[in-house]
Amino acid sequence: MNRGRFITLEGGEGAGKTTAAAWVEAWLTGRGRRVVRSREPGGTPAAEKVRGLLLDPETGDLEPMTEVLLMFAARAENLARIIRPALARGEDVLCDRFTDASRAYQGGGRRLGIQVVNRLAALVHPDLQPDLTLLLDVPVSVGMRRVAGRGGDADRFERLKSEFLERVRAAYLTQARMEPDRIVVIDASLEMDQVKAQVIEALERRLA
Ligand SMILES: Nc1ncnc2c1ncn2[C@@H]1O[C@H](COP(=O)(O)OP(=O)(O)OP(=O)(O)O)[C@@H](O)[C@H]1O
Ligand SMILES: [Mg+2]
Repeated sequence: MNRGRFITLEGGEGAGKTTAAAWVEAWLTGRGRRVVRSREPGGTPAAEKVRGLLLDPETGDLEPMTEVLLMFAARAENLARIIRPALARGEDVLCDRFTDASRAYQGGGRRLGIQVVNRLAALVHPDLQPDLTLLLDVPVSVGMRRVAGRGGDADRFERLKSEFLERVRAAYLTQARMEPDRIVVIDASLEMDQVKAQVIEALERRLA
């Protein structure tokens, strides 16, 4: 049986990743694909506990290395229990954030550097990269406005200053320039239907 396809959604706070995930899932299931959804950090009971620690403002400051190791600890669980088994069954996996988020947030935002993240990726998933990554790109101010509009308390990352989030955005865009065959940049600042059209176009072009 052919391995399923591994699709990831990336972007800063409030870019529209979770909104786009529903469109991608519908597109895939409409073509008869079975789809497993996951998210990072998280995806399994233990990884969701690590997510709780990482997102809870009461956790306070962490060493950047601690933060990236926790991200990869959760990722190792998600890979072993959710992502790899589903791909092996021939199902597609759609994951809301993956290693590019570590490159952007811990590599860029926390200034650990991309090499640290790439070394951890080489250790944890040397054989597996996403087949397609949709990078939802918005100016930081737009994303923050959307997060605020959605309501609820801001998590540990949503509370970070805009300089941090600008570094995150820049790191994502750098990665996209380095891997144009894998990463498609979507202008997510537009109206919802225009964002959706770009997402569908990318799916048609890369996966149909
Ligand atoms: N193109 C758009 N125009 C206007 N509002 C949007 C657009 N896309 C999403 N939104 C709204 O912005 C908010 C954030 O979207 P969403 O939750 O999908 O973003 P996210 O990237 O998953 O955020 P987070 O980083 O917090 O997980 C939601 O209220 C959503 O309805
Ligand atoms: Mg989301």
